[in-house]
Amino acid sequence: MHVTTSIPLIVVTGSTGQLGGRVAARLAALGQPQRLLVRDPARAPQLPDAEVIQAAYEDGPSMRVAFSGVQTLFLVSGWGPTRLEQHYSAIDAAVAAGVERIVYTSFLSAAPQATFTHAREHYLTEQHIRASERRYTFLRPSFYLDRAPRWFSEEGVIHGPAGNGTVSWVSRDDLADVAVSVLTTGGHDGASYDITGSQALTLAQAAEQFSRATGLPASYQPETLEEARASRAKFNPPEWELEAWVSCPLSAILSRRSPAMPPRPSLTTFTGIRRAISTSLRPGFDPVQDEVDQRIDQLLGVSPS
Ligand SMILES: NC(=O)c1ccc[n+]([C@@H]2O[C@H](COP(=O)([O-])OP(=O)(O)OC[C@H]3O[C@@H](n4cnc5c(N)ncnc54)[C@H](OP(=O)(O)O)[C@@H]3O)[C@@H](O)[C@H]2O)c1
Repeated sequence: MHVTTSIPLIVVTGSTGQLGGRVAARLAALGQPQRLLVRDPARAPQLPDAEVIQAAYEDGPSMRVAFSGVQTLFLVSGWGPTRLEQHYSAIDAAVAAGVERIVYTSFLSAAPQATFTHAREHYLTEQHIRASERRYTFLRPSFYLDRAPRWFSEEGVIHGPAGNGTVSWVSRDDLADVAVSVLTTGGHDGASYDITGSQALTLAQAAEQFSRATGLPASYQPETLEEARASRAKFNPPEWELEAWVSCPLSAILSRRSPAMPPRPSLTTFTGIRRAISTSLRPGFDPVQDEVDQRIDQLLGVSPS
C-alpha cells in the first residue's frame, strides 16, 4: 500500500480540537494538502499546505461552500443534544457539494440499541452516511485513554456500574495515526474499524495502573445503576448527558455479551489495525517497534513484556 496522490485536497473538521488537530498536523507533516473547516478561524492551527475555511456543521450553506471541489471529508463527531442534526447537516452538505468519500469518527460497537447512549447516535450517523451512497470508512474507537484520568474523582476513586467488565482505552494519538492511514491510502471503502488499546482493563485494574502511574492512591468503587444515577444527578446534568454518563461505564460490563459487535472484519487492537493497513505507510514506520504502544504502557505503568 502506498500513499496516494489522487486525493488533492482533504477537508479536515475538528482541527481546533484534540483529535482533528492531531490529524491535521500529521497530514501536514506528510505534505498532504488540506482544507481546515473551523468555526473560529482565529483558533485554526497554522500548518503548511493548509487553507482555512469558516463553517459550522449545522449551517448547510457554509458547509457546502467549504466542501466545494473536495473529494474526501474527514468528519469528526460533534457534541451536545443536537449533535445528530449537526452530523446530518454536515453529511447532506457534503453530498450536495459532490464529496465522494467520507471518513467518520464513530464509536466502538455503534448500534441502534448500544448500551452507551452516544454509540446509538454514532450508529444513526453511520446509517445516514451509508444512505448517502458515498464511499465511506468508519473509525470506531473505544474511550479515549487521554481522558481516562477524568474517570477518577479527586480522591482517586473510579465509580461506576461496570462490575468486572473491561474497557480498552485508546489514545487520541493512535486514533489520529489510524485516521491518517485511512485518509491517505486506498482499500478502506465500506470498512468499519474497531480501534482499541492493546489492553482490556477492569476498572479495578485501571485504578491499579492509575495509582502506579501517578503515585496516588486509587480504587474502584462499583455502583448499582440506581447509585450511578444518583451520584451523577447531583451535578444536575441534562437528561441526555446523565444517561451518557451512566451508560459509559455500564457499557464495560455489558460489552462482552453485547450483540452489537459487527459481523464484518473487526480489527480489535491498534497493533492489529496498524499491521493490517499501514505497514508501508511511511518510511521508518515499524509496527513491531511500536513507540506509541510503549507510550501507552508508560502512561498505564505497564512494564514492557
Ligand atoms: N471516544 C471518546 O472517549 C470520546 C470522548 C469525548 C468525545 N468524543 C467524541 O470525539 C470527538 C472528537 O474528540 P476531541 O477530543 O477532538 O474533541 P474536541 O477537542 O472537543 O474537538 C471537537 C472539534 O469538533 C469541532 N466541532 C464541534 N462541533 C462542531 C460544529 N457544530 N461545527 C464545526 N465544528 C465543530 C470543534 O470546534 P470548536 O473548537 O469550534 O469547538 C472541535 O474542533 C468529540 O467531538 C466527541 O464527539 C469521544
